[in-house]
Amino acid sequence: MRIGLIGAGNMAGALARGLGLPARIFDVDVARAQTLADQVGGSVAASNADVIAGSDLVILCHKPAQLTAVAATASAAVHQGTLIVSLLGGVALADVRAAYAGATVFRIMPNTAVEVGAGVIGFVDDDGEAPEAFSAIQALFAKVGEVFLIPESQMAALTAVSGVAPAYAALVAEAQIDAAVRAGIPAAVAARLVGASMAGGVAILQREEMDTLGVRRAVTSPGGVTARGLAALEAGGLRAAFDDAMDAVLGAGA
Ligand SMILES: NC(=O)c1ccc[n+]([C@@H]2O[C@H](COP(=O)([O-])OP(=O)(O)OC[C@H]3O[C@@H](n4cnc5c(N)ncnc54)[C@H](OP(=O)(O)O)[C@@H]3O)[C@@H](O)[C@H]2O)c1
Repeated sequence: MRIGLIGAGNMAGALARGLGLPARIFDVDVARAQTLADQVGGSVAASNADVIAGSDLVILCHKPAQLTAVAATASAAVHQGTLIVSLLGGVALADVRAAYAGATVFRIMPNTAVEVGAGVIGFVDDDGEAPEAFSAIQALFAKVGEVFLIPESQMAALTAVSGVAPAYAALVAEAQIDAAVRAGIPAAVAARLVGASMAGGVAILQREEMDTLGVRRAVTSPGGVTARGLAALEAGGLRAAFDDAMDAVLGAGA
């Protein structure tokens, strides 16, 4: 399958490098397109229309607000069998279908962890008229992460969990590293210690099928140090902070 990318920014790069896609790429910043093409063994197209004309599957990787402007210059190149995958945050599937009449369009929401093969990919559970293409595209993205088929009404909330997750993980790790340094551990050791501890905690949670309460009880002796640490985190408003963060992201029109 010939794959094209419209836009060569952060998400396009994470996906193309994660998938190892020798894609055909256009970006208004030609040097950016060239850099990505060099990284993945792909090629630079002359225009967005050129990407569509020369690809079976085109992934829209420009900014959401650019849909109308990009489609105005490119949609005429839609041909028999053109598949389009939109990862434009907050843009409804119906709007992309209207912009690319004649193409088969799907909507996904990946996060940047696709670059390291540990992504989360929300996939609007709508196979339209093309169940075979729907399955093929799911299989493609499953190579770089876990695909979650969900109704479109849940895409914003999924984004507010998985899209932000790499940044949240970084902030939580940073806070723990700072606390460890304050307790006397050198920064470089603290960073490795926190990273390994987080990875171990996640591995146990996954083995226990995300039974968060069960895992917490298993490691919390009555009156022990873990109980005291957890109580301090609760008193510090950890849950309320995550609720506020969800509201903040949804309020921003994720
Ligand atoms: N970053 C994430 O974590 C993430 C996660 C999920 C989904 N997304 C979605 O991915 C899309 C891209 O986000 P991003 O973070 O990768 O943005 P980005 O780094 O700004 O990349 C967008 C690229 O598109 C280029 N572009 C602008 N107009 C164009 C046109 N007419 N034709 C072709 N390319 C054009 C931009 O060039 P200029 O900079 O010169 O304008 C830029 O290189 C967005 O729709 C976003 O909702 C992002």
